[in-house]
Amino acid sequence: MQKFIITGGRKLRGQLAVQGSKNSALPIMAASLLCGEECVLWNCPRLTDVYAASRILNHTGCKCSFSENTAVIDPKDVTETSIPESLMHEMRSSIIFMGAMLGRTGECTVSIPGGCELGPRPIDMHLAALRKMGADIREEHGRIICCGKGHGAKISLAFPSVGATENIILYAVTADGETVINNAAREPEICDLCGFLRKCGADIKGDGGSSIVIKGKKQLYGCEYSIMPDRIAGATYLAMTAASGGEIILTNACIPETEPFLSVLEQTGCSIYTNRDKIYLRSGARLNAVKERIRTMPHPGFPTDAQAVLMAALSVADGTSVFEENIFDCRYRHVDALVKMGADIQVMGKIAVVKGVKGLCGADVNATDLRGGAAMVIAALTADGTSTIGNICHIDRGYEKMEDAVRLLGGDMRRS
Ligand code: EPU
Repeated sequence: MQKFIITGGRKLRGQLAVQGSKNSALPIMAASLLCGEECVLWNCPRLTDVYAASRILNHTGCKCSFSENTAVIDPKDVTETSIPESLMHEMRSSIIFMGAMLGRTGECTVSIPGGCELGPRPIDMHLAALRKMGADIREEHGRIICCGKGHGAKISLAFPSVGATENIILYAVTADGETVINNAAREPEICDLCGFLRKCGADIKGDGGSSIVIKGKKQLYGCEYSIMPDRIAGATYLAMTAASGGEIILTNACIPETEPFLSVLEQTGCSIYTNRDKIYLRSGARLNAVKERIRTMPHPGFPTDAQAVLMAALSVADGTSVFEENIFDCRYRHVDALVKMGADIQVMGKIAVVKGVKGLCGADVNATDLRGGAAMVIAALTADGTSTIGNICHIDRGYEKMEDAVRLLGGDMRRS
C-alpha cells in the first residue's frame, strides 16, 4: 500500500494548471454510451475513478483508451448490459451508468453502491424518477435489474441530487417525449454534462437553473469535447497555498464556478484576484478565522467537497471558525487525523467548531475519503516535522498526481 511522506513548513509558491474535473468526466464518460459514434474527450483527468469508469465502458463492449489527457471512446458495439458487482463497487458513482445503459439498450443490471465513506448514499430518488419515466426496476439480492426504453415525464426531486439529476438526463435524452426536472441540481458539472450531450445532438434547456427540460431524440452522434476544469481540485490547491502562507497562480481555472469557495476563502485575509481562467492568491500573515458559519449547500452554496480542505487551512487560523455540513451525514471523518496533528476541532452532529491553533505537528494518519485525505495533506504541509499519510488510494481517486503538483509549488511530498 502506497503512502505519502510529507515534511511541512515550506511556503508554497508557483503556477499550477488545474486538472480536468472528475465529477464531469465520470457522467460524460457514461453519456458516451448513448452516442452512435466515437467521442473524444480532452482535458480528461487521469484518476483511478476515471479508469474505473473506463473499465465499465470496456466491459459493455465500448472501446475506451487514453493518451495523456485525451480519452477516446468508441461506443458502437455495446454487447453486455450487466455490470458486475466488482466493477460497480470500484467507485460509488458507477450508478450513473444506469440511466445511460437503459437509454442505449433498454436494459441493464447494476448493483446498489454500498454504504460508504460519507455515510449512507441511498439511490431512492434515482429509482423513483426512472420508474416514473417507464423503467421497470426490480431489486434482487443487491442487484438492480432494469428494463424499458423510457418516456418523458415531469419529475420533482425532493432534494437537488447531483447523481439523480444526471441519471434522469441520461435516460431522458433518447427517451420518447419531453422530460421536465424540477428542483434539479445546479452544479456546474451538470452543465458540463449537458454541454457534451448538446454537442452530440441532444435537446436540453435550462441546465444551471433548477428546472431542466429535455426533449428526447432518436439518435445522438459522436463529438469532441473538452472537460471543464476541476473546481474542487482548484479549491484544494488554493486552500493548501493559503495555509502555507504562500502565493499561487492557478491556470485553467473556472472562476464563476469556484466563486462560492473564493468568497469564503477571501474572508481569511488572503488577496485573491481573478482574470479569465486564472486565479491569483497571496497569503501573507496567519490566516484569519472565518466569522460567518460555513454552511455546505447545493450549488451555488459553499461546496461540501471543499469543506475538509478549508477546515485543514482554518485549523491553524487566528480565531474560531464554525462549519455546518448539510449534504452528507459522515463528512467529518478527517477530523480525528487533524486532531492527532494538533488541531482543536469539536464535532457535534452537523457542526464542527475549529479553534485555530498556532501550529500542527507531523503524525502518521490514514486518508478516510478523497477530500478528507486532501485535508490531511494540507495539514501535513503546514505542520512541523514529517507526516505519513496511508490509504492514499482515496486521494488518487480524485487528484492527478498530487505529489507532483505539490512539489511543483516547492512542497516536500513524496510517494513511497
Ligand atoms: N441522496 C438521497 N437519495 C438519492 C440521492 C441522494 O438521499 O437518491 C442524498 C445523499 O445521500 C446525500 C445528498 O442526497 O446526502 C446529496 O447527494 P447527491 O446525489 O447530490 O451526491 P452524489 O451525486 O452522490 C456528487 C459528487 C460528490 C459531491 C456531491 C454533492 C460525483 C461523482 N460525486 O455525489 O462528490 O459531494 O455530488 O455535491 O459527482 C467528491 O468528489 O469527493 C464527491 C463526493
